[in-house]
Amino acid sequence: MKENATAEQMLQWYMTAGVNETIGNVPVNRFKKNVETADSLVVDSVISSLSPEKKSLANAFLQDVFSLEDLKNAIANFNECPLKETATNMVFGAGNPNAELMIVGEAPGKEEDRQGLPFVGPSGHLLDLMLNSIGLKRENVYISNILPWRPPANRKPSEAEIALFTPFIKKHIALIKPKVLLLLGGSAVSALLNTNIGITKARGQWQKYVDGDLEIDVMPSFHPAFLLRTPAQKKFSWRDLLAVKKNLTA
Ligand code: URA
Repeated sequence: MKENATAEQMLQWYMTAGVNETIGNVPVNRFKKNVETADSLVVDSVISSLSPEKKSLANAFLQDVFSLEDLKNAIANFNECPLKETATNMVFGAGNPNAELMIVGEAPGKEEDRQGLPFVGPSGHLLDLMLNSIGLKRENVYISNILPWRPPANRKPSEAEIALFTPFIKKHIALIKPKVLLLLGGSAVSALLNTNIGITKARGQWQKYVDGDLEIDVMPSFHPAFLLRTPAQKKFSWRDLLAVKKNLTA
């Protein structure tokens, strides 16, 4: 690229190189008036440095939540995370609210963001096959994610974003009260089991999820997106699913 290239030439060059989306690492709220561009660059560090009072804002939002409908409204009205501004639809949860198995993933991807439903893209297709392999259908389980909003370009959610939304998914679990929780991927495991153990070590080992009086058996397992990239690992997920099936039928 020539040093004195025009903006149009640079754009052409990016397009030739295959760029079809221009995004930053941090979402920019372009609907907000009088926001300096620099503000958007510090927004992630703003979330990270939220005071404990601000972080407990989520808990304040949850005080009057007694049903899934209340929770959905609480999340929709929670404006402390800029991801909301760049996402198309909120992805709350789907499936059978009386299910014995609740599955928690990481965050919506492109297709989930478009449809407002969890696991409806390529990972969801694989998840359907995985469930079918132990005799379950999507209608038999309940599915949600740690984050209800898609991170731009499917980037990994930051620790601050995960921390901000953890109280909401904990409430979600308390409302569903499943017999078994299947946590897909490291983000779900670190948020809900409060551990730094990587998913490769954590998977396949039964754990307890404890929240007040609530105690639920937890199976950590690989995320389907990871399995799509590394199919050789599917054999481990198969073992985890068999263990889940055994627990559900015990
Ligand atoms: N990945 C997730 O973790 N959740 C979804 O809903 C889709 C992809």
